[in-house]
Amino acid sequence: MSHIVIDHELCARDGICIAECPARIIQEDVDGYPVLAPEDVPNCISCGHCLAVCPHAALTLEGVAPGDCLPMDAGPALSPEAVAGLATGRRSVRRYREEPVPHVTIEKLIDLARWAPTARNMQPVHWTVLDSREKTRTAAGLVADWFREVGVYPELVAAWDEGEDRILRGAPHLIVAHASTRGFRPAADCVIALSTLELAAHGMGLGACWAGYFMAAADAHDPVRELLGLPDGHQVYGALMLGLPRYRYRRVPPREAARVTWLP
Ligand SMILES: Cc1cc2nc3c(=O)[nH]c(=O)nc-3n(C[C@H](O)[C@H](O)[C@H](O)COP(=O)(O)O)c2cc1C
Repeated sequence: MSHIVIDHELCARDGICIAECPARIIQEDVDGYPVLAPEDVPNCISCGHCLAVCPHAALTLEGVAPGDCLPMDAGPALSPEAVAGLATGRRSVRRYREEPVPHVTIEKLIDLARWAPTARNMQPVHWTVLDSREKTRTAAGLVADWFREVGVYPELVAAWDEGEDRILRGAPHLIVAHASTRGFRPAADCVIALSTLELAAHGMGLGACWAGYFMAAADAHDPVRELLGLPDGHQVYGALMLGLPRYRYRRVPPREAARVTWLP
């Protein structure tokens, strides 16, 4: 099957798919229809923009026809005010209610994060979910062991010894993003996916918090890698605690002014 198939009945030869292609590999044939030369197929990153942008539903990409795609809502999905509310209202939630987040909700969050951008559209992100307090507590304990071993964060270790988890905050869930180190930009891809998930969680009334201490240990302490069962060649590039927020934030705390240079 051809990589792209054009329905000549529907194609208006408007050149939009040609202009939109980020790899600039779609050409115009002698009759003005879009074509993709076989030698250019390896340069296609399968981003689907040609398929998504065609106003006439004339283009099928790798066997995916326009009718196979999710529809786009007309106009912007959210008002500017709603977007601003999402950005300013998100907080790092560190106190959680007892009830866990249902599996199906976590699956929905991870599913939404699939639409985050990835370098060269490589979609390298893998997820590992710790889905109970027992598991996150085990993970936090391994991090505390490592801190003790290397002599860092003595206050967190002391708190751990007194029964207070300041590493994973007693979160009922931990969502870990990992990828092969041999990818193109795996660190950025995982962080963007997690940030997308974090915002989606906030939008769904859940609370998340970046697990920086855990991330440090996951990089350096083999028992954490073993607990996660990471595939060979994979690295943890980010992790988020997740749960139902115990408290509601009443106002937005201040931020520093943006430091911006507009080049002349
Ligand atoms: C990469 C990264 C790592 C973080 N690690 C932790 C952490 O291990 N524990 C924690 O309680 N908060 C952690 N945070 C949350 C920050 O402290 C928080 O984002 C910051 O104080 C601003 O608060 P806000 O997110 O509520 O706006 C982390 C944030 C980022 C971006």
